[in-house]
Amino acid sequence: MRRAKAAVNVAAIARNCARLRTQLQHGAALCAVVKADGYGHGAVQSARAALAGGATWLAVADACEARELREAGLRDVRVLVMGALSPQELREALEADADVVVWKQCYLEAVAAAGGGRVHVKFDSGMGRLGTRDPIEASRVAAAAREMPGVHLAGAMTHFATADELKDDGFFAGQLAAFTRWARTIKERQPEILVHAANSAATMRDVEAQFDMVRCGIAIYGMDPFGRDPAARALEPALELSTYVAEAKLCRAGESAGYGRQFVADGDTYIGVLPIGYGDGWRRGLSNNSDVLIGGHRHPLVGTVSMDSITVDLGPEVGPERLRGERAILIGIQGSERITAEEVARRLETINYEITCALTPRVPRVYHRDGVPLDADARRERAQPADAASG
Ligand SMILES: Cc1ncc(COP(=O)(O)O)c(C=O)c1O
Repeated sequence: MRRAKAAVNVAAIARNCARLRTQLQHGAALCAVVKADGYGHGAVQSARAALAGGATWLAVADACEARELREAGLRDVRVLVMGALSPQELREALEADADVVVWKQCYLEAVAAAGGGRVHVKFDSGMGRLGTRDPIEASRVAAAAREMPGVHLAGAMTHFATADELKDDGFFAGQLAAFTRWARTIKERQPEILVHAANSAATMRDVEAQFDMVRCGIAIYGMDPFGRDPAARALEPALELSTYVAEAKLCRAGESAGYGRQFVADGDTYIGVLPIGYGDGWRRGLSNNSDVLIGGHRHPLVGTVSMDSITVDLGPEVGPERLRGERAILIGIQGSERITAEEVARRLETINYEITCALTPRVPRVYHRDGVPLDADARRERAQPADAASG
């Protein structure tokens, strides 16, 4: 029994990608965003699953992430590094045969000086982060990229600030209109250039935002980009976070559990101690503020989340002998109950992205395909030649 583990169903990631592809119009390609270790799910396994589900590009935030994918053997797929790169990181990204993002002449010179590579010009149509806000400057950089020896202009892109906010006073529509105008001029000069803008929310919100490729992250992991129930959009959460009841003991009325005595029992009850805490990414803001599924029922997390453990009110009825060793689900399904990353995010007044990204390396990621462990596949493959020899 592990203290806590995150079980990731790669088949769910593949199905989410396949499902997203059914929503793509005009033949847009799917780029799976696997930065931040695949939003906490594991970059390499998520990338493989996404490719199995029909993604044809991968995107990451930095050079190390691109290198990790290449070193894991993902060599024949285009990888886009979307984030800012220092000169050293730019060299590393190009060495990893990744595409990089540019928006200034000096970046083109840096790419050429580093031996050349494929670039995507970024027009900042309203996000206010990377990219140039000036469409004329963006076009000038695109033209310079075409001329620069060793540099290949591969893409033209933007990123939406409010795609996930349906009430945004028309901001999304404004960004889309500005980008569409600019991208049209770029396409006129170079029809084969890959135009891309949409994250998961934009992909689902407006087919006009899909262009030649969409860059989806959150949805491929089965989480809802709008923070709602993923099931409503037929998304399957790929990650289950579980632990177990390591100790269960009586807490008499007036006794407390945890640091600061933030829970004091009103009446006699049993308290379960579960080995997961903020050192695993189960945040302290969940103190007295979340539920855990045990024995198919919701039980409130009571008291303060510690670094290594939490305490759960199991109620007065069930004896500790029965509950010690019971599996406990923090994100996932048990019986007819379900806790989503969206629910946890709401408790913390944050977004689902942050919940899975927050899981620390102490939580082992264990991979399976609809319940069949991935290492079982590998074991079977290894076993076959031996069986054949003995037979
Ligand atoms: C530039 C860019 N494109 C696409 C994405 C994917 O967004 P989402 O996870 O909302 O699909 C991100 C994620 O933050 C991003 O930074």
